[in-house]
Amino acid sequence: MRLDDVLFSQGFGTRRLCAGLIEQGYVAVAGQPCTDPAAEVDALDAAFAFSVQGERWPYRARAYLMLHKPTGHECSHRPGAWPSVYTLLPPPLRQRPAPGKVAGVQAVGRLDQDTTGLLLLSDDGTFIHRMNSPRRHVPKVYEVTTRHPLDDRQLARLREGVVLDDDPKPVRAAACEAPAERHLVLTLTEGKYHQVKRMVAAVGNRVEALHRSRIGGLYLPADLASGQWRWLEAADLALLAP
Ligand code: URA
Repeated sequence: MRLDDVLFSQGFGTRRLCAGLIEQGYVAVAGQPCTDPAAEVDALDAAFAFSVQGERWPYRARAYLMLHKPTGHECSHRPGAWPSVYTLLPPPLRQRPAPGKVAGVQAVGRLDQDTTGLLLLSDDGTFIHRMNSPRRHVPKVYEVTTRHPLDDRQLARLREGVVLDDDPKPVRAAACEAPAERHLVLTLTEGKYHQVKRMVAAVGNRVEALHRSRIGGLYLPADLASGQWRWLEAADLALLAP
């Protein structure tokens, strides 16, 4: 693969811009400056490494990442009142040429602006579709702080199923427990709009804070600070396979 193609594929700008970065000496391969845009490199070799303006960047044919979403951010490219979660990512991840119409990585489903926790992003449309498909039943675990103390009746109703205003079919929690008076741990396998907030409201309580801690077998790592992102490795992806 040509070096300028590598940079282009990883989101460093147009082909012309990538060639310019290389010619001007901003790019190094295996620690050595390389000024030839046409230089052939084996991007798939595990030992391959390149840097742009001194910053090391791994080659990834497809991008899979997790973000510890902070509160006050919208999962939209065109946010309304709040900044977009995409502003928390470095420009190459937002500019990667995607096979679809929208460039860059896309969030796998959405979290509300005031919800925190595990958000997956990718430029692999098949992966996004698979993770979002209700038929796959990928469990998602939410930690909920409720306004009022929880009681057994509320937990039983969440397990049995509640009817929301947009669908006569009841939605139920795959699992539901209350480790503390106002702390609910809810596992859902669907992803309806505001589902947690609406389910909790339907049993007569209210969500004060909402945090997603797990998707499939993948937990939000304790050392991933709010607002930080990380690549997903093969072992992480295996934990997401339903
Ligand atoms: N359910 C909600 O109500 N909000 C979220 O952000 C996610 C699930």
